[in-house]
Amino acid sequence: MTTLSTLNKFKKDGTKFTCLTCYDSMFARMMEKAEIDTILIGDSLGMVVQGHDSTLPVTVNDMAYHTANIARSNKHALILADLPFMSYVTLPEAVANSRTLMQAGAHVIKIEGGSELCELVTALAQAGTPTCVHLGLTPQSVNVFGGYKIQGRGDEAADKLLADAKAVVDAGAALLVLECVPAALAKAVTEAVAVPVIGIGAGANTDGQVLVMHDMLGMAHGRVPRFIHDFLTDERNSTHSIEGAFALYQHSVREGSFPNEQHQFS
Ligand code: KIV
Repeated sequence: MTTLSTLNKFKKDGTKFTCLTCYDSMFARMMEKAEIDTILIGDSLGMVVQGHDSTLPVTVNDMAYHTANIARSNKHALILADLPFMSYVTLPEAVANSRTLMQAGAHVIKIEGGSELCELVTALAQAGTPTCVHLGLTPQSVNVFGGYKIQGRGDEAADKLLADAKAVVDAGAALLVLECVPAALAKAVTEAVAVPVIGIGAGANTDGQVLVMHDMLGMAHGRVPRFIHDFLTDERNSTHSIEGAFALYQHSVREGSFPNEQHQFS
């Protein structure tokens, strides 16, 4: 069973770890067999499961339903669940919605933003709920960004992201996710904080890697971002199976062959 202590030890030892998004029981069982270290019930389910154009329509009830499916079916991974759009604007709302997801089986609650989350991060930690703060390209803010764009480019943006990361860790965040930021910035953040950092489109130097499951099985919808690799049709997946793709991802991240320079931004 993977815990936060396991991930902290991985960081200390330099052992790279895996995370995949997952939304249902069958895939959760396959991920258990492949010993995927952590599972994220991402609000990306709004796109890949529900057919929306963004994560914004996803509700707390949707997240609780999918979190419970995973928690019943995978006893190996640490389970992270997203608090969806506008479900953590006020502290009482955030606390109540975190309780719903933790009672559905999450071990860690993921929230998107920067230093403005510090009060919430501390309150949840004091209430027994670890948080993972998602920085960089935070999909719930797509309308603020004006699209899904690389974040943290340029000195000012990079300094702000680094300061945000340090602030939320000082406030008690247990994990960070960095999405679509230059690899050098992701490396600087990973080295600057004591907690494990999980990257997606953030280069090879974060402590862990996460991908949306459908993307790494070659089912990306529309334009395929450069940080995605199709592990299903990879020739090293000799069984050509989904279980084989999960096992190859686990192996590739652990040994450091994924991601490589082709998958990162500068
Ligand atoms: O919702 C999600 O799938 C995510 C990942 C892209 C990190 O937040």
